[in-house]
Amino acid sequence: MSNSSILLNYHNGIPFDIELDVNWIAQIPDYPISPGDLYIVTYAKSGTTWTQQIVALIQRGGEKNQSHLMQVIPWLEIIGKEAAFALSPPRTLKSHLPYDMMPGRDPANSIGKYIYIARNPKDVAVSFYYHTKRHSEYNFTGDWDCYFELFIKGEVEFGLWFDHVLSWWRHKDAKNILFLKYEDLKKDLPGSVKTIAQFMGYSLDDATIDKITRQSTFESMKDDPLATIDSLPLKFPVVSSSTPFIRKGVIGDWKNHFTDEQSARFDAEYTKRMSGTGLVFDFE
Ligand code: A3P
Repeated sequence: MSNSSILLNYHNGIPFDIELDVNWIAQIPDYPISPGDLYIVTYAKSGTTWTQQIVALIQRGGEKNQSHLMQVIPWLEIIGKEAAFALSPPRTLKSHLPYDMMPGRDPANSIGKYIYIARNPKDVAVSFYYHTKRHSEYNFTGDWDCYFELFIKGEVEFGLWFDHVLSWWRHKDAKNILFLKYEDLKKDLPGSVKTIAQFMGYSLDDATIDKITRQSTFESMKDDPLATIDSLPLKFPVVSSSTPFIRKGVIGDWKNHFTDEQSARFDAEYTKRMSGTGLVFDFE
């Protein structure tokens, strides 16, 4: 018998992985922000790890850290209160929280800096499907059709994609928020590295940009044990024979999964929720 729902814990109407402590997530809005703090924020599966790699390389002038990327730029929600308070500023952290659940509740009016990466939701759905099948704590054994129904309703970790992305998009013009798209990075990686570096306050020469770009391609990250979470000890085991964490890294894999009917339904939902927002994505 397959399990067609995902095991999740809710806080503030948002579903989270049972591995996360929702009591801590409830306290995150009161977590301090210091000058120089930098957050990489995404709805999951949108290029978080990729951006972590780029940011970590920028901070070291193109030289790679010898520690795992998830230690260099920890995930605020998973490390817990004690570890979060033990970090000394300036901190660089990743987060998957919607805008008003972040430290300080109002990033645009805080002293932190935020890089928000969004990805077209059809590719997010496919990537998240493989992720959810992979990690045993979700206890999800349904197929793609089943996952599609959950995703379109927001009954997946981090809730409805539209709500999350729009919560940040509304603040895209704040000078301390850089809103980028996965597809921008895909189509112009050196240009995106430069944009991120400038936003972070670094002025890098072309040779350094090139060095960072070479170490941030899909090919160079795919099997890098310091980039993929496949090399980390996890509390809940990964389901055997599942796809790797750094899986395919392309625009348009949704076409291999969405039926015509699913695509039309999703497009209708997309139009309903996104029209008039000015936010558009490349789907191929
Ligand atoms: P796919 O599952 O579509 O391959 P996150 O880090 O937010 O969980 O996002 C994971 C997605 O980003 C995965 O997408 C992964 O393969 C992709 N990704 C990771 N590193 C990448 C890179 N250097 N270039 C392109 N895509 C990358």
